[in-house]
Amino acid sequence: MSVDFGPAGIPFMTEKEYNETFEIHKKSSSPSAWNPRSWGRKRWAGALLGAGIIVTAIVVPLKVARMNRYPSYSKLEYSLVDTYSGESFFDSFEYGNGTEATHGLTNYVTKEGAEWSNLTYATSSQAIIRVLPKDSTGTAGRPTVKILSRQRYTHGLFIFDIGHVPHGCGTWPAIWMSDTDPDIWPKHGEIDIIEAVNQGNKGAQFTLHTTDGCEMGVKRKQTGKTLSNNCLNSTNYNMGCAVRGAPGSYGERLNDKKGGVYAMEWRTAGIRMWFFSKNEIPPDIESGKPEPSEWGTATADFPSTKCDINSHFKNHRVIINISLCGDWAGAPPVYREEYGCPMECAEYVGSVPEAFEDAYWAINSIRVYTAPNS
Ligand SMILES: *[C@@H]1O[C@H](CO)[C@@H](O)[C@H](O)[C@H]1NC(C)=O
Ligand SMILES: *[C@@H]1O[C@H](CO)[C@@H](O)[C@H](O)[C@H]1NC(C)=O
Ligand SMILES: *[C@@H]1O[C@H](CO)[C@@H](O)[C@H](O)[C@H]1NC(C)=O
Ligand SMILES: *[C@@H]1O[C@H](CO)[C@@H](O)[C@H](O)[C@H]1NC(C)=O
Repeated sequence: MSVDFGPAGIPFMTEKEYNETFEIHKKSSSPSAWNPRSWGRKRWAGALLGAGIIVTAIVVPLKVARMNRYPSYSKLEYSLVDTYSGESFFDSFEYGNGTEATHGLTNYVTKEGAEWSNLTYATSSQAIIRVLPKDSTGTAGRPTVKILSRQRYTHGLFIFDIGHVPHGCGTWPAIWMSDTDPDIWPKHGEIDIIEAVNQGNKGAQFTLHTTDGCEMGVKRKQTGKTLSNNCLNSTNYNMGCAVRGAPGSYGERLNDKKGGVYAMEWRTAGIRMWFFSKNEIPPDIESGKPEPSEWGTATADFPSTKCDINSHFKNHRVIINISLCGDWAGAPPVYREEYGCPMECAEYVGSVPEAFEDAYWAINSIRVYTAPNS
């Protein structure tokens, strides 16, 4: 066969010859191209790849957008509603008594008992809440204090100006908020603003405890370390969705600097908490015009993205207690292994009273602010 070559070096052929030579079977323009029954392997692979690219192109940005969802913590107009300070500090609180759900070796005393043994004491500048640092108590539980605000809150900005935090082997101190009505916990949630165990030298913990449906595996803006994302009380033995602050946010290091300020903002958009050491307290806090939008990144951020704050949290009292041993502080892997504390927790608490000299809160003030449309 003699073949003529065209200008580009392609031999001139009939259309049929050309198609046969190059295996082109103009299916793309024929109706059967759209009929998958007639597709070969290659076309199927191509179609699937194309579909995959389209789906990925839609789904990935949607996923990214979902992961980037974040509430608007717009500026609010806060005004002061309650101040807890001065000699009348304890008049605004009730004293909890008896034992506790977390199995602490505590003997929470009454108001009269606390005053009699000087476990609570208020001056014009500070309120002291302590554990009894004398007498061997055996396993009866060491006298200590739990106070609950008479006032209840839903939403607000809470500023805790703290001069000294309790610490030491066997202690489990906390400043927290919850609804204490019988059998209601955890339906109305629990907000732990300051919590630590034993020497407390690993930093304060900031935690929420809820019923089902409050998740923190979402975009957050915080400097603290997330320890757990599920706030549901029955996960991880009621660990809650905990965030840990820097080591200086609790314990001896904090007390050496004469304390600091913990702030908690509770609003529809989310719950945020900040720790400020003494030399970093924002001037707007000092001047009584707190402005969280100026404070920079929170220590712990609990956005409402996958947690409807308003259905999970309401009607809280401010609660301050110093528990001893119990499910967290006294558990041997925590008490002995993690913190290197002596004896068994219960034996130590019962027989070494002088170890509780430093187990006291010194509270300069607690101020509560509220804002419209929060
Ligand atoms: C202990 O607390 C309960 C419940 O608040 C109260 O009814 C009781 O009177 C208290 N006990 C004492 C001795 O104050
Ligand atoms: C006291 O504080 C600890 C630490 O937050 C808490 O787990 C415990 O249940 C509290 N005790 C009572 C009686 O509220
Ligand atoms: C009670 O405690 C306060 C504060 O620690 C102290 O200043 C005061 O002297 C104590 N009072 C008595 C009677 O021990
Ligand atoms: C969690 O809360 C439920 C009530 O909603 C209660 O029955 C359960 O004992 C709690 N679990 C823990 C570990 O706290």
